[in-house]
Amino acid sequence: MHLKSIQQLELPATADMHVHLRQGELMELMVPTVRQGGVDTAFVMPNLVPPLTNVDQVLDYQSKLRTIAKDVNFLMSLFLHPSITPDVIAQAAAAGITGVKMYPQGVTTNSESGVSNLESFYDTFAAMEKHGLVLNLHGEVLESLAPKDVTLEEAFLPTLKTLHERFPQLRIMLEHCTTAAAVEAVRACGPTVGATITAHHLYLTSHDACCDPFAFCKPIPKKPTDRDALVRTIVSGDPKFFFGSDSAPHPLQSKTSAEEGKAPAGVYTQPFVTQLVIVALEEAIERGTIKEEDVTQAKLEGFLSKFGRQFYRLPEASNKVVLERKGEKIPTSIRSEDGSIEVGISKVGTDVFSLRWV
Ligand code: DOR
Ligand code: ZN
Repeated sequence: MHLKSIQQLELPATADMHVHLRQGELMELMVPTVRQGGVDTAFVMPNLVPPLTNVDQVLDYQSKLRTIAKDVNFLMSLFLHPSITPDVIAQAAAAGITGVKMYPQGVTTNSESGVSNLESFYDTFAAMEKHGLVLNLHGEVLESLAPKDVTLEEAFLPTLKTLHERFPQLRIMLEHCTTAAAVEAVRACGPTVGATITAHHLYLTSHDACCDPFAFCKPIPKKPTDRDALVRTIVSGDPKFFFGSDSAPHPLQSKTSAEEGKAPAGVYTQPFVTQLVIVALEEAIERGTIKEEDVTQAKLEGFLSKFGRQFYRLPEASNKVVLERKGEKIPTSIRSEDGSIEVGISKVGTDVFSLRWV
């Protein structure tokens, strides 16, 4: 597929298996941007304030999201916390909740009530395995726990292996994987273990993330070789790896007014998620990381739409999007009608396909 010269592309709707849609006014602004990015199915993260630690809170949140966007399938998650007992897992399964997200305590945005000792949740994991809920891992250790010269993600990988060995039937997602080592670790596990890959980790490296608050996120983008390993993973067509944007909006003001290195973590890509994956592949072809012919229609469809639905046991997409080159560029930000909230978008000014639903 000669991506650069293609003027029009038709794809099944994207399944974005990791999104942050926030709450209140920010949620109102964010939710309509899900469809704009070509997405009809979104796995929604529970790191709200307060975090979603019971079934009623999750269902209440889901109904708010549905009111704003009736045509998106919102897959919901609980925030792993001592209140998530095996009984709560049974209730969650009955209520149609899809997963439970584990944040190590203090590792990222709104994770202060996250987990410090995973073993204390083994009964909960056993219940999840039994009821078919997915365990979604923020796969990083705290900085204080990582050996010198090992990334926070790589230091977490033995824990992934331990969990998989202990709960082989539990479906586990290593969210937003960022290193060649993580890809290998996921490949080494059985078919119950998969990983999401974001758009931004396909084009950002630590060099960008260090100094641009709009490129700063967790996990921090890594070396060019890690970025390239993620790109190659996508074109390998391995169904264990699929799209989860980790689009994570923060008010523009909080990004621009922060001292260097203190901006809130999160890259906002939602209105252009499908297009940004394609941009990243185009850039990888230009760099020589992959060849034109490595990108095929089937591999794009697999990564963006099919593999995620398969892992989450959903039917294939019934809607399609058409992407056309019309000279559209990514704008600086999106803002609410009264201008009170503004969120900066990643990769401002980049030429992208224009997207419409068919
Ligand atoms: O960069 C990130 N932002 N990583 C996360 O894990 C959380 C997210 C957020 O909620 O802002
Ligand atoms: Zn996230």
